Formats: sequence, C-alpha cells, structure tokens
Amino acid sequence: VSRRAPLALALVAACGGRAAAPAPTTTTPSHAPPPAESGALLAPSAFASIAEPAARSRAIFVEIGRVLLHPRCANCHPGDDVPHQGDAHEPHEPPLVAGATLGVPAMRCGTCHQDRNAELARVPGAPGWKLAPASMAWLGRSLSDVCAQLIDPARNGRRTLAAVRDHVAHDALVAWGWAPGADRAPAPGSQRELADLFQAWIDTGAACP
Ligand code: HEC
Ligand code: HEC
Repeated sequence: VSRRAPLALALVAACGGRAAAPAPTTTTPSHAPPPAESGALLAPSAFASIAEPAARSRAIFVEIGRVLLHPRCANCHPGDDVPHQGDAHEPHEPPLVAGATLGVPAMRCGTCHQDRNAELARVPGAPGWKLAPASMAWLGRSLSDVCAQLIDPARNGRRTLAAVRDHVAHDALVAWGWAPGADRAPAPGSQRELADLFQAWIDTGAACP
C-alpha cells in the first residue's frame, strides 16, 4: 500500500483541481430498473424511477456503456493504435503495426475494408473505415474514464455534447455496430435507441459514473 501512495499523489497532482471533486457513488441507486435482456437496451423511460437527476444520469450512462464497451465498438477504439477483432478483442488478423500500414503505404484500412461488409471474405466494411484516434480510446478503460474523456472537448474531437449525440445518431461507423456482417454479434439495442439514451443522459446533466 505504501508503495502505491506516491503514484496516487502523482495522479492527484496530474489531475489538478479535479481530484477534489466528491467521489462518485458506485452503489446501485434505489429503484434502479431491472437489467435489459441481453441484446436489448433499456429505454430512457426505464430510468424514470430514479428520482435524483444525477443518479439517473449516471445509471443511463452505465446503459450507454454496454454499447461503447461492446467489442463491435471498442475494437475500433483501442489504446495501442492497432485495431482489435472478435469478441475477445484479439489482435487484428492480418497483423497490423501501429499506424497500420504494414510497412507498405498502400496497406491502409481501405486496401481491405470497403464501404460495406464483404461477406464471403468476412471483411467488415463501412464508408470511411478507420481507427478512432488515441484520445478516444476505450478498450481496456473503465467506464468512468471513457465518460470523462467523452465530455472533455480536448479529447472528444472538440465536440459539444449535442455533437457527440449527433455522431452517435448518424455516423456510418457507429451504424456498422448493428450490422457487422458474418457471424459477429451486433451491439445491443439499435443505433436509434442508443441516440435516445445519449439525449436522456445529456438532459439529466451528463453525469459520469
Ligand atoms: C490486409 C487487409 C486488412 C487491412 C490492411 C486492415 N484490415 Fe481490418 N480486417 C481484415 C480482415 C480480413 C478482417 C476480418 C477478420 C475476421 O473476422 O475473420 C478484419 C477485421 C477488422 C476489425 C474487426 C471487427 C470486429 O469487431 O471483429 C476491425 C475493427 C478492423 N479490421 C479494423 C481495421 C482498421 C481500422 C484498419 C486500418 C488501420 C484495418 N482494419 C486494416 C483485413 C484488413
Ligand atoms: C471502423 C472503426 C470504428 C468503429 C467500428 C466504431 N467507431 Fe466510433 N469512431 C471511429 C473514428 C475514426 C472516430 C473519430 C471520428 C471523428 O472524430 O471524426 C470515432 C468516434 C466516435 C465517437 C466520438 C467520440 C468522442 O470522444 O467524441 C463516438 C461517441 C463513437 N465513435 C461511438 C462509437 C460506437 C457507439 C460504436 C459502435 C456501435 C463505434 N463508435 C464503432 C471509428 C470507429
């Protein structure tokens, strides 16, 4: 424990004033709705039983997190600059080096990935297929870290919360998560349901779990 203390202090120092914020509650709020069936997402109305807005907002983000951290999304939002694949987030096959050029400039994502799934070859595809930038990495991160970076303009592509919601509602790479082709499991719910949850999360103050 004593060996960890300096690291904790360093993190507190690195985070500046933010570390002084009250610790978020991790307990399940009373009147939390029962979990959705696997493959489904709860609707915003399911959270109406949580009276306190910040607690409701956090609970909604936990539901959103079931999509964000789903392999179909997280595999393209890694922290090591190479895509992952499959439900166990295995390294991309064929292997790609960081920057993903395989040492050959022509070997970019679009060399293999097209604007739609190539079913016979099992190659997933959607318009503009590319890796999310490192500032938007989610793979291996906690949901509270993912939430913190999502609301931080320095890390979320200078987006307002409304712009993040619009990205979720309309982006073609996000849409692919529900039509991933081959035998890949889709993300739970639908793109529309995720966008509705994002709106409800914003309306309740965009609190992080
Ligand atoms: C040399 C061809 C090739 C290149 C270049 C390539 N990929 Fe792939 N990628 C594939 C193939 C083939 C698969 C499917 C593997 C399978 O599921 O059997 C795949 C699968 C994936 C998956 C897995 C999806 C999932 O959830 O399982 C992601 C994500 C991905 N590629 C992203 C990228 C990105 C981003 C780039 C560019 C940085 C890239 N790939 C470059 C051939 C390639
Ligand atoms: C093929 C790779 C790929 C897949 C699959 C993918 N994304 Fe992304 N994602 C990106 C890229 C690239 C960006 C950056 C786009 C930009 O900033 O213009 C991004 C950005 C985002 C952002 C904005 C992040 C921020 O911090 O503002 C959100 C939200 C997002 N993606 C959600 C998802 C969800 C939800 C899924 C799954 C249903 C998903 N993505 C699947 C590549 C992907």
